[in-house]
Amino acid sequence: MQQSTYHSQLAQLRDGFVASFGTVPAHVTRAPGRLEILGNHTDYNEGTVLSVAVDRAMFVAIAPADPAGRNCQVVDLRDNSRRDFSLADLSHPRKGDWANYIKGLIVELQQRGIAVPPFSAALLGEVPLSAGMSSSAALEMAMLLALNRLCGIELSWLECAKIGQACENNYVGARTGLLDQFSSLRGKRGCLIYSDFRSYEVSTVPIPAGTAFVVANSMVKHNLSQEYNERRQSCEEAVAALAKIYPGVSALRDVSWEQLLAARQQLAPLPFRRALHVVGEITRVEKGRMALQQGDVEQFGQLLLESQQSSEENFENSCPEIDALVAIGRGLPGHLGARISGGGFGGICVHLVRAEQAGEYLTALQKIYQEQSGRKISAMVCQASDGASYLD
Ligand code: GLA
Repeated sequence: MQQSTYHSQLAQLRDGFVASFGTVPAHVTRAPGRLEILGNHTDYNEGTVLSVAVDRAMFVAIAPADPAGRNCQVVDLRDNSRRDFSLADLSHPRKGDWANYIKGLIVELQQRGIAVPPFSAALLGEVPLSAGMSSSAALEMAMLLALNRLCGIELSWLECAKIGQACENNYVGARTGLLDQFSSLRGKRGCLIYSDFRSYEVSTVPIPAGTAFVVANSMVKHNLSQEYNERRQSCEEAVAALAKIYPGVSALRDVSWEQLLAARQQLAPLPFRRALHVVGEITRVEKGRMALQQGDVEQFGQLLLESQQSSEENFENSCPEIDALVAIGRGLPGHLGARISGGGFGGICVHLVRAEQAGEYLTALQKIYQEQSGRKISAMVCQASDGASYLD
């Protein structure tokens, strides 16, 4: 994000807070969205992922409120929607409501014995909603840092990530992994982060000079709850069948490509294809990390394309709009690779391009897609940014 945009967002957040609640915020936090660069649906299979935190973030301002009672109020300054709720009554998530990402966190904190005092909060940000850049994890992590300050506690980054995931799993109803929270918390400017979802270790891999990420939003809104959960279930079915053949297998992470192919006849066709995707992705992440270490951006780009092909054929979590955007990208100058990013079923695709051609690439992608489909998409160049932080 440009420094000027960043400062104007902060000023708007503080002004909006004062206008909404008649007092100044006590704490301000920021947490970015993320791009999954390679490693699709591998996190909950205990695999590895290469991702970045993006230069688009959610900001939260918070202050204690209602000292005699238990009432909280939160205003989303993007559309001035407002939610009032009592800390004594958080038991019922409202389907599709953004406040679930806040209430679910409070429930998780309460279950860990942490008393959350009543508060007023304001939100602002520019992570596109329901697009695949994890606006929800950005909101959760910015809110959770704010709650850390409000409650006078200092949860570790890993605990914060797990609380965010628990909020999604238990309150929102999406059985997501830890990728989005890891990326939002541990992002590093100019770097990909390499996360291992078995050991929970995170390290950085510099993004090769002269490359950029063009992100195209298919404008197909995705809803992660149903199809995502079905994919996860298929992966679990595959693990159950593979564990009978290979003792010691407890996750798809444990299965090699060769072992999976050898077990083909013993697996039902659908779990087999889902497992092909995940095991293939874990292999590609390792190859990709090596390619980047050797500065081989062409090979890295090729792996992105293979990942997309596997999403289309094996995991079936792409969509015609994303397939078309990747196909168009392949014909453009500066293209190195492209793939769907995140849960899938719509949302965004990420294109790795030569930096000096990024602007023309972006314009051409939008123009050709509109000519072909009659529909407009939005696209942007994203930089890798630092992870979540306290701003006070
Ligand atoms: C969503 C989930 C993540 C991860 C990705 C797919 O973003 O929230 O946990 O599973 O999909 O890789």
